Amino acid sequence: MSDSPKLTRRPEWVALEDHRAGGLLHPRLRELFAADPARAERYVVRVGDLRIDYSKHLITDETLALLLELATATDVFGLRDAMFRGERINVTEDRAVLHTALRAPREAVIEVEGENVVPAVHAVLDKMADFAGRVRSGEWTGHTGKRIKNVVNIGIGGSDLGPAMAYEALRAFTDRDLTVRFVSNVDGADLHEATRDLDPAETLFIIASKTFTTIETITNATSARSWLVAGLGGDEKAVAKHFVALSTNAGKVSDFGIDTANMFEFWDWVGGRYSFDSAIGLSLMIAIGPDSFREMLDGFRIVDEHFKSAPAEANAPLLLGLLGVWYGNFFDAQSHAVLPYSHYLSKFTAYLQQLDMESNGKSVDRDGHPVEWQTGPVVWGTPGTNGQHAYYQLIHQGTKLIPADFIGFVNPVDELSDELKDQHDLLMANFFAQTQALAFGKTPDEVRAEGVAEELVPHKTFKGNHPTTTVLASELTPSVLGQLIALYEHKVFVQGAIWNIDSFDQWGVELGKVLAKRVEPALTEGADVPGLDPSTAALVAAYRTLRKK
Ligand code: F6P
Repeated sequence: MSDSPKLTRRPEWVALEDHRAGGLLHPRLRELFAADPARAERYVVRVGDLRIDYSKHLITDETLALLLELATATDVFGLRDAMFRGERINVTEDRAVLHTALRAPREAVIEVEGENVVPAVHAVLDKMADFAGRVRSGEWTGHTGKRIKNVVNIGIGGSDLGPAMAYEALRAFTDRDLTVRFVSNVDGADLHEATRDLDPAETLFIIASKTFTTIETITNATSARSWLVAGLGGDEKAVAKHFVALSTNAGKVSDFGIDTANMFEFWDWVGGRYSFDSAIGLSLMIAIGPDSFREMLDGFRIVDEHFKSAPAEANAPLLLGLLGVWYGNFFDAQSHAVLPYSHYLSKFTAYLQQLDMESNGKSVDRDGHPVEWQTGPVVWGTPGTNGQHAYYQLIHQGTKLIPADFIGFVNPVDELSDELKDQHDLLMANFFAQTQALAFGKTPDEVRAEGVAEELVPHKTFKGNHPTTTVLASELTPSVLGQLIALYEHKVFVQGAIWNIDSFDQWGVELGKVLAKRVEPALTEGADVPGLDPSTAALVAAYRTLRKK
């Protein structure tokens, strides 16, 4: 039990409230830049290949100093060190939180319960590399001796979003002769669409589930097995060459009928949403090859090392975390947009939704007391230019404050034709123009100076002052992807530490699971569900009436 003062009663918190209510009541980016143009250079932090510009934020040196004092008072770095040391900082599940060990170098020593976990991490990575190599070379064949041409990952949440996102992100690095698909939804349409044009003899299923009890995954895996066995003439022995498992639960893997020799292990100190550089990344490793996968892990490690050792005022995850606290807690911002200007990052924000919202969507503190402050934001967004023609209107001229991260790359991927590469400057012109427009807007006088009719002036005015972070890298490589993900992982960590919540449990997903189990017999068999509320009972009755089968 912690006896530290409640967050909102800390003097450092009160100082931020005073700062907000005083000098920074109406901070204007136009004025902040006019008074201090050097902030454009000063508010930039570099980590690995990332250049992170936070100059277009509603902050001054004093704001930053006060935010850093809050970080010190809430002992963010103490908790960080405990995490890296393998202490059980996931208090409600009594577990260590060691996804950083998944990208530790071979020679590192990280102990859990007195045992160095690094050799086991590398043993699994080596086993994955061996298997990925055999699938890619055609040495690992299907039951009939045909080469594997299709890989279908079946998993959900952290056992899907990471590899699915990274596969899209790194398409230019993938073996284009392989078809790689991701099935997560228990809606049978997902598996149907993923398999309808595939030859079972050429298809490998990767069943990814930390617990191996998740109903969506086990249901889809069971249907995939039926599809495969039926497609291969009913021979159950085919399963051995077409199914592998990624899990912490060898017993359940074996109960399902997958030989544990074909299981790639990870450990309970790896949270689901932090797992994709564990065995959960196998589908990605098959797609991009072991070397690129290791390059990606190196990228994660660059940011881990930075987070561990960079001074507070130049520590990128710390600064981004603090900026999020600044808006969420002192400006009442409810959401945070992540807007990548890269088609390849089309699933990046969806990945971050689980990372951030499952981690920090909490309303009790680490001791179980209700929090009296806002915690994690709603994270949302899609690739930039598409958003510009959809929801940017609201960011520019709506009534809400929506801090946003803009992520862009100086160079397009090599694979594009020269003509398509030439489009990149246009893409990036939009990237730069948007943060400029959001920050500085357009005043009524500027609108009038263009000869706009007076009655339209309010409509064409942009208040500006919308805060953004710009993350720029030379190109999207496996290492850069690893750096970006680790940046957000640690940002989420920082915020959870300040809010004093457990960022590593996810009890909020349990109730729905339990109720679904209870309701299902009512749908399939019309069984009575004791204690069903009247609204849900009426919906279930309507469903039964309309059901065709
Ligand atoms: O949604 C809850 C959750 O437990 C996530 O945290 C996790 O990533 C997902 O379900 C899948 O769990 P598993 O890998 O055990 O199938």
